[in-house]
Amino acid sequence: MELSKTAGAQNGIDKRNYTSKQLHSKQPKKQSIHTHSVVRLQQLLSVRKMSTSVNLSALRLKYREKKEVFLEENIKVKQPIKLFREWLEEAVKTEELLEPNAACLATVNKDGKPSNRFVLLKDVTDEGFRFFTNYGSHKAQDIDGNPNVAMTLYWLPLRRQIRIEGVAEKISKEDSLTYFHQRPRASQIGALASEQSSRIPSRQHLDEIEKEIKNKLGSDGEVPLPNWGGYLIRPHTIEFWQGQTDRLHDRIQFRRGPEIEMEVDGKLTHKGEDGWVYERLAP
Ligand SMILES: Cc1cc2nc3c(=O)[nH]c(=O)nc-3n(C[C@H](O)[C@H](O)[C@H](O)COP(=O)(O)O)c2cc1C
Repeated sequence: MELSKTAGAQNGIDKRNYTSKQLHSKQPKKQSIHTHSVVRLQQLLSVRKMSTSVNLSALRLKYREKKEVFLEENIKVKQPIKLFREWLEEAVKTEELLEPNAACLATVNKDGKPSNRFVLLKDVTDEGFRFFTNYGSHKAQDIDGNPNVAMTLYWLPLRRQIRIEGVAEKISKEDSLTYFHQRPRASQIGALASEQSSRIPSRQHLDEIEKEIKNKLGSDGEVPLPNWGGYLIRPHTIEFWQGQTDRLHDRIQFRRGPEIEMEVDGKLTHKGEDGWVYERLAP
């Protein structure tokens, strides 16, 4: 599934919707934009009872009804990439999810220190999960030294989390170039202007570099590919988490690897498709 068009643009920001009827019902019909914003903010704060200090322990969201439990028999094909695509399709159709392909990527540097950040998942194939970034960035340097990565997606309106663990590798330069030129020209120039994760003296510095590039390329010159491209994460573990109101959440984990099918016992570990095994984990 190609994800390039699923983000922001499709689920445009105008659909942003702080749904709760409480937020809308008491608004007077005519008011200035400023008054409108203030009223909304006050209502939001009162709904969340967060006016002076945030009581995180009291924030509790209603999850699924008991009848909506996620059972093994509901998984049509016991293959996690196929299941990922099914869940993703539901996520893309869920209007409140503005960026269903936003995923938190964790890397570990050569000294064993972890770090994470969001990236946009841009493709899901039978081989794995693709994202794009600067090849000189912090994350890229981590991957150079240690290709083991983890990625997590959280889809709040669906009460779903997906965890992916695997090994990252650079995709071919041709594939990176193809995707690079599909991006809006301003984003291509932005990627060329920014040595991601390096220290810079000011915002102005970036603007000046961008201006220089624009002057050099003219209005329609092709933007050269910077030190930038895609990574493919080949997964070995994928976990699907479905939140439940009683906190007895459903967790189904898939794993694959050498001789993993030897672990299949039909009780805790079950045989899946394409060399995957699956098991239920306690929440
Ligand atoms: C929702 C979201 C999506 C992002 N997508 C990307 C992306 O696809 N690629 C990327 O390099 N940075 C992306 N970023 C910025 C990264 O989070 C991060 O700031 C940047 O990649 C530098 O990270 P690093 O210094 O750890 O390498 C995104 C940020 C957010 C909040």
